[in-house]
Amino acid sequence: MKRAITPGTFDPITEGHLDVISRAAQLMDEVVVAVAASHKKHPLFSLEERTALVRKACAHIPNVTVQPFDGLLVDFAQEIDAHVVVKGLRAITDFEYEFQMAALNQQLDYELETVFIMSPPQYMYLSSSIVREIASLSGDVAQFVPPCVLEALQEKFATN
Ligand code: PNS
Repeated sequence: MKRAITPGTFDPITEGHLDVISRAAQLMDEVVVAVAASHKKHPLFSLEERTALVRKACAHIPNVTVQPFDGLLVDFAQEIDAHVVVKGLRAITDFEYEFQMAALNQQLDYELETVFIMSPPQYMYLSSSIVREIASLSGDVAQFVPPCVLEALQEKFATN
């Protein structure tokens, strides 16, 4: 049984994240999407909101479950018995950051393998931060996020 973990802040989940999660779900027996607390990033959506949105967005993928975590990724991976971390790799700028995290996670737990899935061209430049910025300026992000996220962004910026 190959259980993988796909971690991220998902503030909010985008179509790019969903693409990586779906591809991971085709390769692995089971995928746990781990929503990080990421306190230092001061997320727009709370951990509970982000987790609920990821759950809704992934509800159609049978071998995917979603769990929040607060702490080290290597500890959470051990807790849920996952031995593979799957991350998406977009444009070249992602590489250094992802390489650093993969290398450090390997130092912390040699048994935990990180594998990368290439984003397709249409998602190469998509990021949660760009989605937040466009939405905050009343731009249309419908093509970049699942419908539940679109609704949540509209609510968030209507009341702020
Ligand atoms: O979507 P993001 O914000 O790029 O994801 C980054 C994330 C959540 C995967 C990373 O920050 C993480 O693993 N955080 C948990 C804390 C941790 O283990 N930090 C050390 C990483 S080497």
